[in-house]
Amino acid sequence: MESAQRHRVIAIDGPAASGKSSVARELAQRLHFVYVNSGAMYRAVTWSVLQRGINPTDKSRIAQLIATLKFGCELKDGELRLLIDDVDLTPQLHEDRVNGEVSRVSTVPEVRQVIFNRLRDYANKYDLVVEGRDIGSVVFSETPFKFYIDASPEVRAQRRAAQGHRDQIARRDRADSSRSASPLIVAEDADVIETSHLTVDQVVDEIMKRLRKKNFRVAG
Ligand code: CDP
Repeated sequence: MESAQRHRVIAIDGPAASGKSSVARELAQRLHFVYVNSGAMYRAVTWSVLQRGINPTDKSRIAQLIATLKFGCELKDGELRLLIDDVDLTPQLHEDRVNGEVSRVSTVPEVRQVIFNRLRDYANKYDLVVEGRDIGSVVFSETPFKFYIDASPEVRAQRRAAQGHRDQIARRDRADSSRSASPLIVAEDADVIETSHLTVDQVVDEIMKRLRKKNFRVAG
């Protein structure tokens, strides 16, 4: 089923507001890899569902919608972004309604499948740093480079509040960890990094150190 992966993939998973995005983006810049935020892809699909007035509990309507959407992508500032019907939905992705429903929409198998396929396809073209919930455990389970970024619930709530977003992260974590399709778990062979007392640069330094130990070749 899976295509051969020709490029290197670094998987960064973790719970809500653990700092994955900042870490993954910075790591990708240092390595000259392409950065992919898979959560943004789930958010874009969720926004499209809500925008059409589809009830987020109606899995069959969501599956029907998925079959009609045109998925594309754009490489911008070192980041691959999902386009839906040719539109980059980035400005809409942190709306309260998206925060509220993304975990539910992410349980729909057709949604997971389409994003899985796109992520695998990206890795046929580029070296990637991909962040998400199931990247090391499911989507790129074969990569030897996988990290689980964690932080205490208090620190994560503070980090999200500092971004100015309203987001019930504890509720989303419960939903993401308890669902049957690709739940948030720590992959058996993932390196766990507890980041509550670390800056983004310190976390990236730590990842670079651990990558070198895994014989990851750093260019330059
Ligand atoms: O903003 P935050 O880091 O908390 O989350 P995100 O990475 O933007 O992901 C938003 C939501 O998408 C998560 O709460 C999951 O429900 C879902 N998601 C997923 O199911 N699988 C992934 N690989 C990435 C995100």
